[in-house]
Amino acid sequence: MEALAKDSVVAVIGSGAMGSGIAQVAAASGHQVRLFDTRAGAAANAIIEIGKVYAKLVEKGRMGAAEADLARERLQPVNTLGEVKDAALVVEAIVENLEAKRKLFADLESIVDARCILATNTSSISVTAIAAQLRHPERLVGMHFFNPVPLMALVEVISGLATDKAVADTVYATAQAWGKDPVHAKSTPGFIVNRVARPYYAEALRLLQEGAADAPTLDAVMRECGGFRMGPFELMDLIGHDVNFSVTQSVHAAYYGDQRFTPSVLQQELVNAGFLGRKSGRGFYRYGDDAVKPVV
Ligand code: NAI
Repeated sequence: MEALAKDSVVAVIGSGAMGSGIAQVAAASGHQVRLFDTRAGAAANAIIEIGKVYAKLVEKGRMGAAEADLARERLQPVNTLGEVKDAALVVEAIVENLEAKRKLFADLESIVDARCILATNTSSISVTAIAAQLRHPERLVGMHFFNPVPLMALVEVISGLATDKAVADTVYATAQAWGKDPVHAKSTPGFIVNRVARPYYAEALRLLQEGAADAPTLDAVMRECGGFRMGPFELMDLIGHDVNFSVTQSVHAAYYGDQRFTPSVLQQELVNAGFLGRKSGRGFYRYGDDAVKPVV
């Protein structure tokens, strides 16, 4: 199966941590990219930030200056969803909420061409459920990137019950063309990585609540002795507690309240406080100062 043509338009909906990373990679791979976010100015700001990342890559000799200019020019912020109508692929990276995603895809279906592929970057919500109310559920597929998108090679290509195999194969080939290492997966709760990783977060949160050790110690142990690239608390701070908590809630609900996946009250409190991790300047650690300090 062939990847999307390089000159085809890719729309990215949601310009947060994931959407901006996806836009950065798609534009660097040759696509015209339309970036949309409901927060006024967010898509335009994200494109300014992506431009800075390209500039840094040029400085480090990892991207040519002309290539960076071209990639930057391919990125266009749009203010209305209607402006993505020429997209061949839409990648959704909005809030991790089933109803919000369903509404977005229902709106998109009345805007885009019949051949346009609709992809969701959901971490944990059933791809089957997101697609269920569409007129053409067979064109919706999961295209699940990992954070930070430009650095992480893995992409889970997730088929719901109705997903057309040709759609999943095109997205798989497109991820490869973007320099990624995709894997096919079925729409099970948490898919592969988020399912396997749930106990990593849950047990670490329980250990912290039981006072076994503080967050920096637990992180250091898992990094230095466990061989993990990041400890569980620094990783949750990177992912965002709102996102990580929603994923746990959705896996927990999907398995009928299985206690192994019980969400953490401590993490709920971080979300309640707006201490979402790196993106809000504070989570288990503080960010933005000279030092990263533990605060929980
Ligand atoms: P984020 O909070 O950084 O960004 C979400 C963006 O979507 C915000 O800018 C928000 O204004 C915008 N938005 C919300 N509703 C919208 C709508 N209806 N239309 C357009 N824009 C809307 O979130 P993040 O971390 O980028 O996550 C986005 C999605 O990617 C979620 O489904 C999440 O589960 C998934 N994901 C997150 C990962 C992570 O490590 N943060 C990893 C892999 C997937």
